[in-house]
Amino acid sequence: MGYRAEYDNWKTDPEGWWMTAAQAIDWDTPPSKALTQRGENLYDWFADAKVNTCYNAVDRHVEAGRGDQLAIIYDSPITGSVSRITYAELQTRVATLAGALTAQGVTMGDRVIIYMPMVPEALEAMLACARIGAIHSVVFGGFAANELAVRIDDCAPKAIIAASCGLEPGRVVKYKPLLDEAINLSTAKPDVCIILQREQEPAELIEGRDIDWYACQQGIDPAPCVPVNGDHPAYILYTSGTTGAPKGVVRPTAGHLVALNWTMKNIYQVEPGEVFWAASDVGWVVGHSYICYAPLIHGNTTVVFEGKPVGTPDAGTFWRVIADHNVKSFFTAPTAIRAVKREDPKGLERQKYDLSGLRALYLAGERADPDTIEWAQDILGVPVYDHWWQTETGYTIAGNPAGLEALPVKIGSPTVPMPGYDVKILDEAGHPVAAGELGGIAIKLPLPPGTLPTLWNAEDRFAKSYLTTFPGYYETGDAGMMDEDGYLYIMARTDDVINVAGHRLSTGAMEEVLAGHPDVAECAVVGVSDQLKGQSPVGLLCLTTGVNRPHDEIVGECVKRVRDQIGPVAAFKQAIVVDRLPKTRSGKILRATVVKIADNQDFKMPATIDDPAILDEIKEALQTIGYAKG
Ligand code: COA
Ligand code: AMP
Repeated sequence: MGYRAEYDNWKTDPEGWWMTAAQAIDWDTPPSKALTQRGENLYDWFADAKVNTCYNAVDRHVEAGRGDQLAIIYDSPITGSVSRITYAELQTRVATLAGALTAQGVTMGDRVIIYMPMVPEALEAMLACARIGAIHSVVFGGFAANELAVRIDDCAPKAIIAASCGLEPGRVVKYKPLLDEAINLSTAKPDVCIILQREQEPAELIEGRDIDWYACQQGIDPAPCVPVNGDHPAYILYTSGTTGAPKGVVRPTAGHLVALNWTMKNIYQVEPGEVFWAASDVGWVVGHSYICYAPLIHGNTTVVFEGKPVGTPDAGTFWRVIADHNVKSFFTAPTAIRAVKREDPKGLERQKYDLSGLRALYLAGERADPDTIEWAQDILGVPVYDHWWQTETGYTIAGNPAGLEALPVKIGSPTVPMPGYDVKILDEAGHPVAAGELGGIAIKLPLPPGTLPTLWNAEDRFAKSYLTTFPGYYETGDAGMMDEDGYLYIMARTDDVINVAGHRLSTGAMEEVLAGHPDVAECAVVGVSDQLKGQSPVGLLCLTTGVNRPHDEIVGECVKRVRDQIGPVAAFKQAIVVDRLPKTRSGKILRATVVKIADNQDFKMPATIDDPAILDEIKEALQTIGYAKG
């Protein structure tokens, strides 16, 4: 069946369509129905089922006789090591760790924060939580202690599982001091921290609170898989919103299993047993869905890659990994490909490897620019598929369902909505616009299985953030258009979220940190265009009257402040001091206009601007740091 027929089948009978997809999952109690309405615009999928995620991702493959198949390949150019874990080994390792968690008093519904780099133990920790119905929340290693503390306080974990360190090129990131500081800063203290000691930087353990990863598993009985309700939260993943407080996206168990499993064949074109690789990080949604859960649920081999696209050791690393492990489908962010292209524009590194097993490259996480797509297509000789999704959905909203039917690629478009998603482009009043016209991108409710049913501890914020602008729809926060063939085009965010190197960041969060500097009276952070990272944050600082210290000094302190409080991942390195900020007469900062000036784009003078002359001042200031030079 082709895409159109499949999409139409879904549209005709959405619940029936998902009940059919659900047959690929091993249920303890199968769902009696697909959809339940929990409240106004609130839905759950497969709520009355009983199921275990870890069983579906690990044990069932062993029981089916595939225990000797590789589940995880760990390839770490940064440490110079490669290791392999079969499904049978993974089952033993996960069951024992789950037993250790149980022995520490962690039970169904308890939260567990995981703060780990790209090592297989990170996946084992996630699966061990899933095995006993604990709800994990993985925190990306590039965040500072303060961000970790915010997450600890929001989800109040009973336990934290962390590694002693992560490894960045030329730098060991000591996780343990960051963890200790975060726990000091937080009010919701965990009972226990399980620490994986890495030889590059073993950590000192705090007696009575910290225990060693291996020591806590000594003599422990393996834990069985505990069936949970279909609507039980599998995990919480915090993501950036408009304000400094991150949103705790909740992932429901049953829908997550059903939907992710469907995507592996129909979007990523892999059969069970084949190797699938997503070069991302377990701290992001791509890492949750496509390093850990989907490939394992579907019985694939997943690659845990601890390295960077360039510099570990060179721009051929990706191609080496694909060739060495016979990767069939490869998924990464456009930024990573841009980094490779910048270092090896002729693709000479690629020539060194046999990539004949590779079927396609999948890009997501940020806009895929045509140059990058064309370059990758040229050097790889396989289709390059852009696809669009968000932490909130957990998998593709719009993509090319190549495993079902490879649709013609239109460069610049992530292709078409997947079954489950009724995507509409709406004007400000919430009316659908004509093909080719720009508008807010919205999805008709209910969202499909696996997408967020709510935000952790914040149902009101969930409704306010996503459900109020367009009644009856989920607001994606992206603007764009749909052409006459139903292809989507994603143009920009409609909120204050920016995307730096495929990482979703909140300018509002950075502004809150800058505003805390004693000499800063007012500030704005905008995302200007960056050739490598897509966007890069730039701060505009208005100083408190009477401050006459050198501006460089203040800017330096502000840069350090963001790094210390949000983390290196914010990549906040540039700020300028200005006398005043461009605002509307009602006091709204004109961030989009500042971006256009910085990027040398034409713009219409905002009709509501308070004082147009200020834009010349801003332009001059931006020129001092290399922008607005056109
Ligand atoms: N732990 C600690 N620090 C981290 C980190 C981690 N897991 N990940 C990144 N950082 C640090 C980096 O070391 C860097 O620090 P620096 O300011 O001291 O140099 C900073 O955060 C910014 O990182 P990044 O924006 O990633 O830039 P980079 O220059 O290190 O690397 C790329 C650029 C393009 C190679 C890199 O961003 C990349 O591989 N991007 C792909 C992103 C991706 O996979 N996203 C997932 C969505 S699919
Ligand atoms: P995240 O939640 O980190 O996955 O970020 C989601 C956001 O990244 C989306 O709302 C978009 O703004 C952007 N994004 C993700 N994928 C794409 C894509 N293929 N094209 C354009 N923007 C994308």
